Amino acid sequence: MIRQLCYLSTAAEPLDALSLAHLAEGARRYNAQMQLTGLLAEGGGYFFQVLEGPRDNVCAAFGRICRDRRHRDIRLLQDDEVSGRDFGGMCLALAELDVARLTAPERMFDARAIPMLVSALKHTLPVQMRTHRAMAAA
Ligand SMILES: Cc1cc2nc3c(=O)[nH]c(=O)nc-3n(C[C@H](O)[C@H](O)[C@H](O)COP(=O)(O)O)c2cc1C
Repeated sequence: MIRQLCYLSTAAEPLDALSLAHLAEGARRYNAQMQLTGLLAEGGGYFFQVLEGPRDNVCAAFGRICRDRRHRDIRLLQDDEVSGRDFGGMCLALAELDVARLTAPERMFDARAIPMLVSALKHTLPVQMRTHRAMAAA
């Protein structure tokens, strides 16, 4: 079984693209070693993350993440045993969290909104990855 957790947090201060890329680079290295996969969506002053993998590894990573001063008010939205990964093959996909369009932050506390949000973010990934590549090439 795979443990999958999702949380919402508030960015301590706005993170520019370079800082986010730096954060993701370190996180991906660690996640790969720990057989973790997931997604980090950032936008509107919020982080939304899905983290999935072996139970103890998810627990250890979440402990480190919670101690990180780059965000605060970490609200665990979901913590489940699931039969499969949603982000298999992605050590940490990056996405833009369009809070206004996807869901209002207060609605994220409704457990039923989470699968919809995860699925909506998943669908934006190929588009966002193309955009990132185009930006990197420019
Ligand atoms: C929003 C957010 C998400 C993060 N996600 C991860 C992650 O998925 N994996 C990871 O190893 N570190 C992640 N980090 C970074 C960790 O919090 C931590 O800085 C990093 O693991 C280094 O920990 P250390 O200084 O104790 O070695 C994240 C940080 C933030 C602010």
